[in-house]
Amino acid sequence: MAPSVAIAITRHSSAVNMRALLEWFKENARPLPWRISKVTPWESLLAEVILQQTRMETGLPYWERIRAAYPTPADLAKDSEENLLRLWQGCGYYARARNLYKLAHTLDGAELPTTYESLLELPGIGPYTAAAVASMAFGEPVACADGNVRRVISRLRGEHLTDSEILREATTLLDHQQPGDWNQAMMELGSLVCTPRNPSCEQCPVSPECLAFHTGNPEQWPLRRSTKQTHIHATALVVSGEDGILLKARDGRVLGGLWGVPYAEGDADTQTLLRGRTAEKIGKVRHDFTHKRLEITVYSSPPEDDDILLNPDSVPLATLDRKVLALHKGHQGEQS
Ligand code: ADE
Repeated sequence: MAPSVAIAITRHSSAVNMRALLEWFKENARPLPWRISKVTPWESLLAEVILQQTRMETGLPYWERIRAAYPTPADLAKDSEENLLRLWQGCGYYARARNLYKLAHTLDGAELPTTYESLLELPGIGPYTAAAVASMAFGEPVACADGNVRRVISRLRGEHLTDSEILREATTLLDHQQPGDWNQAMMELGSLVCTPRNPSCEQCPVSPECLAFHTGNPEQWPLRRSTKQTHIHATALVVSGEDGILLKARDGRVLGGLWGVPYAEGDADTQTLLRGRTAEKIGKVRHDFTHKRLEITVYSSPPEDDDILLNPDSVPLATLDRKVLALHKGHQGEQS
């Protein structure tokens, strides 16, 4: 479905409404062992260490085996590292097991610490595991961002965000009353619905809030990690009047066949673009292609006599142009 400009504006200018997520989670969560009966913080930590790099179906039998062998960190510390590694066999990423063994010795008979910051100090515990355990076992309002959460948030925002931007968004969205359920709900949504390929947007409780859904091509987010992007400064010009917007047919490999506002990359072409116009700078839009990240400075200008204006809903527009037009519409709203 082609998004209207109004939808894009809502997405950019208001907080995302995620209330439906927890309801969805209650109805649809997989019956994982820690959701059926209470587990200890240590068992929760074991699960998160295993599941961070191992798929659920593979990881669950390891979790069952290891928690049965070592009900507390003290039980693990009493045994040999070799025995732990034996139980870990086939689960991969063996540094996790070695770190877990070190962790058990570091605790030296004590219980796990109960806060995000103190968990983070333990061997092998990174921000994801510390946040998962702190929120699920101790109810601390701290967001965790694994690959699933990263995908959900990138799509909600329709942007390729950096890890720290993802974490900031996850923190903004976090439900402080139920942080453990919330974090699990985000991960569950990423596992079951917002999948890397063929996401089931029709079953998604937050699709009305999702910019990627509205573009009709959610799979383009998030960017695959290995790709190196070049950063480019660009300029877009929104010429608007009563009859619509000045739009041109785009050419080129990436956006050929689509329409868009006059656009330039680099200083010289920007000067040409703006020459002879009375243009006001109205803001910036960021947009990512696989290999380039654009920071687009957007200008607004009244039409000249020979500009042909079109209704933007009448032509196919790239997401980049929808973002530009959403910014422009928001700016107009502020002016009136
Ligand atoms: N992946 C890692 N930990 C998880 C959890 N607690 N629930 C769902 N998916 C997960």
